[in-house]
Amino acid sequence: MTATTETIGSAMTAEEIVALTKRHTIFSWSAQGSVNPIPMVRGEGIYFWDANGKRYMDMNSQLMCVNIGHGDRRVIDAIKRQAEELAYAGPGMATPVRARVGKMLADLTPGDLNRFFFTLGGAEANENAIRVARMVTGRQKIMARYRSYHGATSGAISLTGDPRRWANEPGLPGVVRFFDPYKYRSHLFREGDSDEMFTRRCLDEIEETLMYEGPQTIAAIFVETVTGTNGLIVPPDGYLQGLRQICDRYGILLVCDEVMCGLGRTGKWFAADHWNVVPDMITMAKGLTSAYLPLGALAMSDRIANYFDKNTFFGGLTYNAHPMSLAAAEACLQAMIDDDTMVHTQKMGRVLRDLHGVMKDKHPSVGDVRSIGLFGVLELVRNRVTKEPMAPFNGTSPEMQKLGAFLKENGMYAFINWNNLFTNPPLCITEAQLREAFELIDRALDITDAAVTH
Ligand SMILES: Cc1ncc(COP(=O)(O)O)c(C=O)c1O
Repeated sequence: MTATTETIGSAMTAEEIVALTKRHTIFSWSAQGSVNPIPMVRGEGIYFWDANGKRYMDMNSQLMCVNIGHGDRRVIDAIKRQAEELAYAGPGMATPVRARVGKMLADLTPGDLNRFFFTLGGAEANENAIRVARMVTGRQKIMARYRSYHGATSGAISLTGDPRRWANEPGLPGVVRFFDPYKYRSHLFREGDSDEMFTRRCLDEIEETLMYEGPQTIAAIFVETVTGTNGLIVPPDGYLQGLRQICDRYGILLVCDEVMCGLGRTGKWFAADHWNVVPDMITMAKGLTSAYLPLGALAMSDRIANYFDKNTFFGGLTYNAHPMSLAAAEACLQAMIDDDTMVHTQKMGRVLRDLHGVMKDKHPSVGDVRSIGLFGVLELVRNRVTKEPMAPFNGTSPEMQKLGAFLKENGMYAFINWNNLFTNPPLCITEAQLREAFELIDRALDITDAAVTH
């Protein structure tokens, strides 16, 4: 059926927007019959509105990506200006905005990560990182972790450890998986262990895996520096440094996927900065433009980039270094510099951590809380002793669904995955707004508390 101009005009009702969207478009990672999208029409700061005028506090920055907040005029105006000046240039062109953003990123990324290949998003950045790692090392195998998501394209979904890969298997040959430094549930953590002991065990296990695989066959180790969707796992101090040493020992490239945790989310430009580690490559997207336009990037160290001075870079995209996306990135990065976003995020991160602590003290269904900057999670359980999750791995439960419905009903958009409630607001959130958010979360957790068995 073809929609009439009347039904697709700006005067559509909320119901019409949802019905027409569902009829003709496909939603990701879902059975289409079960999706219930919000008819979103406008956003400003940490809020967005639906077509009925209902306001939502965006407690997940959409998909952990609208880092500077919605509707920032500085970015909107920069995009408009770029559209007037030059909307598109082929990937073989040098443009002023490409020159400026490359330099800007080289100044912000750690160490000698000075050259960038621009993509449209995170998956493509990882796809190119796989390709580069193989070309530069001449090795084929890649190591990645179970609790990870690296994107939905062929190679990136093969590296992904979470269940989203299952339907795509068998994927890329030569992917070797290892376990995560997930202290709360790790088989390597024993009650009473120091972080140092836990880190040692994690690193020893990686070395053991390498011994069996043959380290000389491994091109790269990919990690989300701080794991996102798979449970917000902050590595213990020493873990990333240890991984760097292992990689150096065997000539393996360390690739940090900072698509979600990079660009200010953790209170640093890049999460690896928390541990002063310089990876060989960083992949980024999301916060790079705060999702105002699609853009990803693969950052390469000088050593890797120099390899391509003589050798062909076998990769390309029609929309590589797209001027409009780069203009959005430039304005976004400048906004974060002008607003001192790193300092603000660190400050709000301390408030978030305290509020998490209050929730844990008060609510028996909160099994664990984890956060770094404004990147946080409340992990919900039925029993703190057994750690039985409030929903099974890769599943949901009536309680988690009720929790989500309560928050939505009361004007909060939050990301709930399995037994995890994420707390990832735009980085421009104020302390008062953060406290207001937790007043609602506090009330919502009574729902999951009711399911706790002692
Ligand atoms: C850590 C990580 N890597 C890669 C991706 C894929 O990025 P994109 O969806 O832009 O392809 C995501 C997306 O959520 C992500 O969180």
